[in-house]
Amino acid sequence: MNFLVRKGTSLKGEINIPGDKSMSHRAIMLASLSEGRCQISGLLEGEDCLATIDVFRKMGVNISSSDGNYLIEGNGLKGLKQPNESLDFGNSGTSIRLCSGVLSAQSFATTLLGDESLSLRPMQRIVEPLTLMGAKILPSKDGTLPLSILPTDSLQSIEYTLPVASAQVKSCIMFAGLFAKGETKITEEVVTRNHTETMFNAFGIPVETSTSGNKKTISLSRVEAIKPANIDICGDFSSASFFILAALISPDSEILIKNVGVNATRIGLLHALRHMGANIELLNEDEAYEPTADILVRSSNLKGISLNSALVANMIDEMPAFFIAAALAEGVTIVKDAKELRTKESDRLEAMASALDAFGVKYHLNQDGIEIYGLGSQGVFKSAEINSYGDHRIAMASAIGSLRADKETRILDCENVNTSFPGFIDTCQKIGININQS
Ligand code: S3P
Repeated sequence: MNFLVRKGTSLKGEINIPGDKSMSHRAIMLASLSEGRCQISGLLEGEDCLATIDVFRKMGVNISSSDGNYLIEGNGLKGLKQPNESLDFGNSGTSIRLCSGVLSAQSFATTLLGDESLSLRPMQRIVEPLTLMGAKILPSKDGTLPLSILPTDSLQSIEYTLPVASAQVKSCIMFAGLFAKGETKITEEVVTRNHTETMFNAFGIPVETSTSGNKKTISLSRVEAIKPANIDICGDFSSASFFILAALISPDSEILIKNVGVNATRIGLLHALRHMGANIELLNEDEAYEPTADILVRSSNLKGISLNSALVANMIDEMPAFFIAAALAEGVTIVKDAKELRTKESDRLEAMASALDAFGVKYHLNQDGIEIYGLGSQGVFKSAEINSYGDHRIAMASAIGSLRADKETRILDCENVNTSFPGFIDTCQKIGININQS
């Protein structure tokens, strides 16, 4: 499936965007491990989260839905059943890495698989800490899928400093820590998204966080049982980022994006864009178990910046959208310390460089970052055919960038958008973006 996008004009309107992907995975997992009935509303019904649901159903958890509200009857921490087949996590790195923490503590064996893209992604980063905890987890020879996890009697806690800034690795260890003897302590030198910490709290699981300088240590101990909880999931800031970008780069535009998660560990993009001169306001700020706001965005003339490296982990999924903003800013934008982009659903440094190439934007790519020579606020992209490399965020960022192309642009291979943003085309059309499937 391809997207066909026509040059844009003024965008106006109010939109809601699908539920937060990170929170949805964690809610499904904790509800499945809880001791009772949990209601989850606002859950992202994208393929990634449906894969997590499917995995827990295969292990005997009863999960039903009606009108987008999910009912999960938890089996308890010790109640998962051995699945009859391999567990397929599709495209979802978050799901496979977080679930590995749970599966490593089971008294049955599992084999974990994924699609072509997930099968290329690094798994050694979770195999190492889980092995230190006593898990019997074996990746393929090059540290990728399939993962074979053998039964274990018990896990031991560890004290572990994350070698990469990764919330997935941190969360994998936290899930394993629920089953481990002793106190598990994870130190991060770069702060990453803390949705596991907040979701553990929402399910009544004690998690302590302490900071020392730039370092943050998260501590938790084994729990005997998890209480059921009802969770209402807000809109995904990462999905909102494409519409923030759309309003900024389109003439005479104003868009209100309702009820979006604005957790401080996720909104690096907001800080970066404001630093570039973006007109973005947060309205109706609220806090349930996660902070939310409505985001009001207006057309803005952007200036290039040197991106503060400390922000990279807090805007890692928004980098494709940020690169498009940089390409339409006045002057140079410099991004460093972003080599993690190479380990995502595609090599996002390469994939975005090739999109910028197709749009006629000059850049200098290096191993861990990029310099983008912006075309300025009146800049026009060349209309192009853009390869999304089967990566949802490359597809959506390129689709929005196409609003500033001189003619119609085609984005290739966009099915993957359904992993995180079902209804992307409808949401685009609602605010006046001329986009169709082709
Ligand atoms: C996620 C963490 C990030 C992010 C991913 C979701 C999570 O990955 O890119 O989309 O929900 O924990 P890393 O932890 O690998 O950086």
